[in-house]
Amino acid sequence: MCGISGVVGLKNITEDLYQGIRNLEYRGYDSCGVALMNKNSLIVKKNIGGVEEVFRKENVLSVSSKIGIAHTRWATHGTVTKNNTHPFTSCDGSFAVVHNGIISNFRPLKDKLIREGHKFDSETDTEVIPHLLEKYYKETKNIEKTLLKVLNVLEGTFALAFITTKAPGQIFCAKRESPLMLGIGDEAKYVGSDFNAFIDQTKNAVIIDDGEYAIITRDSYVVKDSVTGQEIQKSITKIDWDSETSKKGGYPHYMLKEIYEQPQVVTNALEQDSDSLDEIAEMVFKSDRTQLVGVGTTFYVASYGNYIFSSLAGEFCPPISSDEFTSLANVDKKSLVIALSQSGETYDTLTALKFAKSKGAKTAAIVNVMGSSISRFVDKVILQGSGPEICVISTKAALSQMLILTMIALRVGVKKKVLTKKAYEKSMAALAELPGIIQSILNERSGFIHRIAHSYCKTRHWLYLGRGIYYPIALESALKMKEVAYVHAEGMPGGFLKHGTLAMIDKDILSIVFIPPREDKALYEASIHCVDEIRARSGFVLGIHFDERGKNKDLFSEELILPSVPPLIAPLIQLVIGQLFSYFTATSLKRNVDKPRSLAKSVTVG
Ligand code: F6R
Repeated sequence: MCGISGVVGLKNITEDLYQGIRNLEYRGYDSCGVALMNKNSLIVKKNIGGVEEVFRKENVLSVSSKIGIAHTRWATHGTVTKNNTHPFTSCDGSFAVVHNGIISNFRPLKDKLIREGHKFDSETDTEVIPHLLEKYYKETKNIEKTLLKVLNVLEGTFALAFITTKAPGQIFCAKRESPLMLGIGDEAKYVGSDFNAFIDQTKNAVIIDDGEYAIITRDSYVVKDSVTGQEIQKSITKIDWDSETSKKGGYPHYMLKEIYEQPQVVTNALEQDSDSLDEIAEMVFKSDRTQLVGVGTTFYVASYGNYIFSSLAGEFCPPISSDEFTSLANVDKKSLVIALSQSGETYDTLTALKFAKSKGAKTAAIVNVMGSSISRFVDKVILQGSGPEICVISTKAALSQMLILTMIALRVGVKKKVLTKKAYEKSMAALAELPGIIQSILNERSGFIHRIAHSYCKTRHWLYLGRGIYYPIALESALKMKEVAYVHAEGMPGGFLKHGTLAMIDKDILSIVFIPPREDKALYEASIHCVDEIRARSGFVLGIHFDERGKNKDLFSEELILPSVPPLIAPLIQLVIGQLFSYFTATSLKRNVDKPRSLAKSVTVG
């Protein structure tokens, strides 16, 4: 988590730095700070609060500077205070540092530095870095040699950047496991946690790899090896995202905008390069065992994947939460691990993949962010092309991943001959209906969902129930409710009700049941049975179903009727309803929708 951004240019860069760090705010928004340089002395401004608030409070834009670094924090070590806000400076005020990641050996380093006379102002792990820079600079009198020495003693993960009065006009940065890239503009050079830091200024990026450091000036950049100091030739990556798509475009929140982008996102997923899908299908086909890995929302995407692989390809692909992977997974040379990740930077997921690779397993991933660590780590990647997902809550990326997994499963089904070519074509035709159906639901059902969400927004506890493939939909919808509306919601398979949960049904616990179309007879009946069980105990049920109006008279307390759709895409439609329901509950409760508390878009720490 945390965003870092830096700019060095020909003219005043403070406004560019502001835009850059504001674009990274989704990575953390506890506090924010900048270091600028004026007449060869550092000016550090920082405070708690979001980027806009801190820039206003600290009057940052009034400072003119041709070089600067900025940071937006998601607190890990130390509480949210001004003192714990980056940048941190050395005792002599000559180095200012911003950092994303965790310096795992900071305690012994800090103790030693204190014994040597250094004064610390914060509880953070990061603050050892400027003091180490000061210490080693006294010995080497050379910034690069100093940096190499510091990188050599730091343990843990980092993307860091610093400026120094010893070399005004240069930004130094380094990477180990936390993301970092350079932006190569004509009149300025940039560094950022991801390319949102400079997408408004340049589309030319250089991706820094683990074990590399870089030095940028207004008209040059160089990337070197952190151990040998040897220069490394890097190619320029062209960013194909449009900065306009990163803007809110008239929507009150990014979350709503991104939900509304789903018809297009689904179309993009359907147009995925067929060879890439075939290649991953072939990897699944050839492996002895495929495991799906993700965390949070992507764990639920993986769970959905297991149902879809099981039903379409007769292939059991257990989903494993990335953070549990090393304890649970059983991988060897014949295994395949497919990771799901919107950001492509999630620490736990990357760790799971590294573990899998170390055991000789093949790896693949479905990722949204090009150039991200996971996309570059795996043997085969599918870039889902969902466009920037700015809201911290994941919506469109998850839907797209579910669809891509479905397309892979269909291919595996054909390869394994558990699916005929005809059944494959029929399924693909059903998927092709998805963009239009989602569009009509967004157009015609949003108002009703808004009304229901508003009426029940004071609910203390929601039970989300689904049978079969609707179970991961229930889990994901409940997660959406918790993370954006801060309302307790629990996802559960419908069958669990009678194994304990029915005892909890009362007026304070409201249930939502995701009901499949009637064609899915067994699942449909089992789902209706859940409704009966709750209603028999006078519990409230909001039923989301595809039946005709009036068919289920008096069965539900409230019902949301969806148009008849092919069963294959019905759970994906329900997913969209779950997203909208959480969104409107959150807005009714006046929550900070795009930046909910205690969440960050890119969880780059373990
Ligand atoms: C949920 C959410 C998180 C992420 C999880 C994985 O809305 O945003 O649960 O899904 O942190 O992130 P990625 O997909 O970037 O690996």
